[in-house]
Amino acid sequence: MTGQAKLRSSSDRGTQRAPSSGTVLILGATSQIARAIALSFANAGYDLVLAGRTPDELERVAADIRIRRAADVRTETFDASDTESHQEFVARVLADCGHALAGVIVVFGLLGDSERARSDFSHAEEIIRINYVGASSVLTHLASHFEQAGHGFIVGVSSVAGDRGRASNYIYGSAKGGLSLFLQGLRNRLHSRGVQVLTVKPGFIDTRMTFGEVPTRLAADPEVVGKAIVKAVKKRKDVIYVPWFWRYIMWVIRLLPEFVFKRTNL
Ligand SMILES: NC(=O)c1ccc[n+]([C@@H]2O[C@H](COP(=O)([O-])OP(=O)(O)OC[C@H]3O[C@@H](n4cnc5c(N)ncnc54)[C@H](OP(=O)(O)O)[C@@H]3O)[C@@H](O)[C@H]2O)c1
Repeated sequence: MTGQAKLRSSSDRGTQRAPSSGTVLILGATSQIARAIALSFANAGYDLVLAGRTPDELERVAADIRIRRAADVRTETFDASDTESHQEFVARVLADCGHALAGVIVVFGLLGDSERARSDFSHAEEIIRINYVGASSVLTHLASHFEQAGHGFIVGVSSVAGDRGRASNYIYGSAKGGLSLFLQGLRNRLHSRGVQVLTVKPGFIDTRMTFGEVPTRLAADPEVVGKAIVKAVKKRKDVIYVPWFWRYIMWVIRLLPEFVFKRTNL
């Protein structure tokens, strides 16, 4: 099946719609955070390509957005851990969107079982492979496109867990920390080409990833992340914490001297 045929479009529904601001590619589009991001970008006038590893669920998410918003929403199959397929995946998306591709948002991630990852390296490797290797692989292919285009935005959803290694989740944290550094380097590379690279560091967000791990009252609604990213893209920000107060929590945590920090149980 050709890429064009695989991409499902809503453009023929005859819906009255605002002029498009371009297309945003969302990678890992079935998560609750990704759905909120997709809705926020549809609200802001963008068309969407939703990519992920479960086509039926992607189509459900796309149908839901098409009902609520007059956006053109297409879907694409994408597996973050299958890095060999990433070049072809990016070529397919670009063949379909080309210069209309306004930006990309990497949302996929795997928290995994941190207790198991301490002693089972195959599980640790899976966590690193999805959060760091998968993200840096697909972004490597996309970065060259944006560099040549001379415009656009690249957003990576990292985590506050990547700001300091903690006993409770240092495998996931190190993968997200690696992703944050990757994005920082990419920002440094692409700034002069007019391409924005935004690092998003959520704290606790109320999703299936944190279900049972964090008391619900301490977790923010995924909608907060969607709105914050749209705002940060408009303002061409470099790094955001979501909700905002996590910037100060992590500032204090980063400032703690190692001889103090190693005795804590955070
Ligand atoms: N929730 C939080 O408190 C929190 C805090 C900080 C950062 N984050 C980050 O926010 C992002 C979204 O997380 P969430 O809380 O919404 O968690 P989630 O519901 O578990 O979402 C994870 C997403 O990643 C996708 N995914 C996993 N492995 C994949 C693969 N091999 N290929 C393609 N997609 C894959 C999942 O797809 P399937 O639906 O197919 O499984 C799902 O869409 C993640 O990067 C996470 O690390 C979350």
